[in-house]
Amino acid sequence: MKPSPPPTGLFDEIKRSLLHLKEMGCKSIPCSEKSLNILHAWKHGIRTTRPSMKSESLNDIRADLGDCRRCVLCEKRTHIVFGEGDPHARLVFVGEAPGYDEDQQGTPFVGEAGQLLTRIIQAIHLTREQVYICNVIKCRPPGNRNPEPLEIETCSPFLNRQIQAIRPEFICTLGKFASQTLLKQEIPISKLRGQFYDYHGIRLIPTFHPAYLLRNPEKKRAVWEDMKLLMNAYATGQG
Ligand code: URA
Ligand code: URA
Repeated sequence: MKPSPPPTGLFDEIKRSLLHLKEMGCKSIPCSEKSLNILHAWKHGIRTTRPSMKSESLNDIRADLGDCRRCVLCEKRTHIVFGEGDPHARLVFVGEAPGYDEDQQGTPFVGEAGQLLTRIIQAIHLTREQVYICNVIKCRPPGNRNPEPLEIETCSPFLNRQIQAIRPEFICTLGKFASQTLLKQEIPISKLRGQFYDYHGIRLIPTFHPAYLLRNPEKKRAVWEDMKLLMNAYATGQG
């Protein structure tokens, strides 16, 4: 017996979801034997190749990044700063780009701003090892200049894939670049912060960047407000 066709609207829904996954850098989706048989019965494409059951890991993504030459930042960098922390973290912090210390060591957020981030993480009763920390841009912009739009466009797919691999419940974006990149918004960080947004089913909270807090310590209160929202949601598991 031929399976009955799905109701109208469902294909659009599926198409949207698949495009969404593609945008996130996903190259294949898990598909059960049963679903494959149904697809065959519908005589819709997907006949010969069975999609991979496994989505990519952080190691796969790092390997794909390789000795990256995709933009000019490769010329002056010492180390690629991919990210570090728990690959199954419930919470991912996303910064802008490595600075001098990060470039030297190959580790995110280890300079002065990084030490402040470490204290913020401790203030919400977590450790750096329990979360995952990375940046939109993996190589240091010379002189810590702002990343160029093309550099963000070239590098951010790797961030999207890292997030897809980790599938955290929460993302905390630090500062303007990470917040605007992930939320695809041009609204200033001062307006974006203070609330959760939906990032492909993950709760995302933007806050000020720790480097900005070093220059504007009076903004620490606002960050603490954001961290309390995050800590509450994290503790009650409302991911
Ligand atoms: N600032 C960032 O945005 N990221 C780092 O890793 C360090 C400083
Ligand atoms: N500009 C940024 O890039 N980040 C902040 O947190 C504040 C201003």
